Amino acid sequence: MANTETKLLPPPEHIAIIMDGNGRWAKKRGLPRTAGHAAGAEAFRRIANYCRTLGVRYLTVYAFSTENWKRSQDEVEGIMRLLRKYLEEALRDMEKNRVSFRFFGDLSRLSPKLQKMCLDAQSRSQDYDVQVNFCLNYGGRDEIVRAARCFAQDVLEGKHAPEDLTEDLMSSYLYSADVPDPELIIRPSGEMRTSNFLLWQSAYSEYVFMDVLWPDFGPEDLDRAIEEYHRRNRRFGGT
Ligand code: FPP
Repeated sequence: MANTETKLLPPPEHIAIIMDGNGRWAKKRGLPRTAGHAAGAEAFRRIANYCRTLGVRYLTVYAFSTENWKRSQDEVEGIMRLLRKYLEEALRDMEKNRVSFRFFGDLSRLSPKLQKMCLDAQSRSQDYDVQVNFCLNYGGRDEIVRAARCFAQDVLEGKHAPEDLTEDLMSSYLYSADVPDPELIIRPSGEMRTSNFLLWQSAYSEYVFMDVLWPDFGPEDLDRAIEEYHRRNRRFGGT
């Protein structure tokens, strides 16, 4: 399963993944798109477990974007159902699994039941081995606009002066406040776009684009992405 070579190298502290290709995976098999998302949820379980084995501290996944509401009601409901099912299990097994949760995105558009599950999962989370950040009703531009509005409000209320704004202060207004930026962002399925994912946080991330569809993504694929990450010479704009 896991590649011994990768195991010798320290994994990135924070890996982010655009879980793409569920629809194509289902189409290839003549199945409804929802079946692709169900297989995608299984792939997520596998990878979250494997991240814990490797010692990855943060795993951020794009589960539902601000644009995904444009999909059919059937598909949207299917994804929401999978999320509820997953969170139900996660809440039940939290101590055993040692996974904590954060949610990046505007949860107010989700059903009251799902919102409650997200808030419960977040509030019951402790300093467990892995922190999963679920991007739900998330958009990178939307996140930056919201942060700018909050800062403007704090200026109006006299808590800050405009010139107080630094990169660090701006970061503290984002959903990801207190979470280090991802060193590695993986996009499976052959697409080579960022699709509004972690726009601010990805300034120095290494992107690894892979041909595998997300439901087929396994530990060996994560090993390959981490190996590619280690092959690159990360200079942060220096020499
Ligand atoms: C992108 O593939 C995937 C999504 C929009 C949804 C991702 C959701 C899941 C993996 C299930 C969520 C639940 C858990 C527990 C993580 P696509 O549908 O755009 O694929 P395509 O580009 O092949 O059509």
